[in-house]
Amino acid sequence: MFSERLAEAQQSVERRLGQWLDDAATPARITDAMRHAVLGGGKRIRPFLVLESARLFAADADAALDVAAALECIHCYSLVHDDLPAMDNDRLRRGKPTVWAAYDEWTAILAGDALLTLAFEIIAGSNSTMSPAKRVALTLALARDSGRVGMVGGQCIDLEADKLGMPKNPTLAHIRHLQALKTGALIRFGCVAGAILGDAKPLEHTALVTYGDRLGFAFQIADDLLDVTGDEATVGKAVAKDAAAGKATLVSLMGIEAARTKLAAVEAEAVAALDVFGQRAATLIEAAAFVSNRSS
Ligand code: IPE
Ligand code: IPE
Ligand code: MG
Ligand code: MG
Ligand code: MG
Repeated sequence: MFSERLAEAQQSVERRLGQWLDDAATPARITDAMRHAVLGGGKRIRPFLVLESARLFAADADAALDVAAALECIHCYSLVHDDLPAMDNDRLRRGKPTVWAAYDEWTAILAGDALLTLAFEIIAGSNSTMSPAKRVALTLALARDSGRVGMVGGQCIDLEADKLGMPKNPTLAHIRHLQALKTGALIRFGCVAGAILGDAKPLEHTALVTYGDRLGFAFQIADDLLDVTGDEATVGKAVAKDAAAGKATLVSLMGIEAARTKLAAVEAEAVAALDVFGQRAATLIEAAAFVSNRSS
């Protein structure tokens, strides 16, 4: 069930993103770099979460697809900038050259900026029946989760460890906070988006916030494990980089085995949060296992 649903989501999100990226008024160089960053790769787990959380409430699937596309634009922008020489300095992403390596740094910066703003253009300009109130709620949540108290804030804390050696001895609480912002916020948004689109009851909304938070933490623990245990060809990006760069990760703090144990516990917390939905959440339960056990 899960793998078919993910494959379906990958196809529909690819198509919708292609439509939004097709804009004759955009300079060709920016369009090409944006297409390079967005199309033809990625697991699409964040858009999948939007579609599946919306499905819990039988919310309008066309509106959900636009919100899913918007979230993937933000995610891809975050990767384009994350890979820049000034940040993680990576040349391989999704098995292809990173945008700055394929084009140059200024193009990568602008393509990232254009993807960030396109996300909000999509939510405001969606042709779906999404109500104005939902557009505002989604804009606010996505702005917070992408920005200074979300992904951007997390990237800052991540790079403070890497570039400035701050703090000297990161604690578990520090790493949890860093990962909640850097990775957790956008993954949580994917889950909360369905609650907003589907007019969830307060208890259901809270359940999706908790699920998204735990899933995001699990996702980054798995990413940090893959950096140590994965190989470049399978993962599609450079590995064995975090320790040398001085990244504050759970693996660097507690070692591989303890990080695996923690990952399993966090996955169980994510699944437990879905209790209120009963069998309706079967696919999201499988998604938690996928996030924890993935090899790319
Ligand atoms: C990579 O995210 C960056 C992190 C937040 C760890 P994904 O592993 O979801 O990357 P893609 O979209 O599948 O390439
Ligand atoms: C980046 O985390 C998360 C983002 C917000 C882009 P990483 O730097 O660990 O992601 P990868 O390993 O390059 O995909
Ligand atoms: Mg990084
Ligand atoms: Mg990186
Ligand atoms: Mg990583």
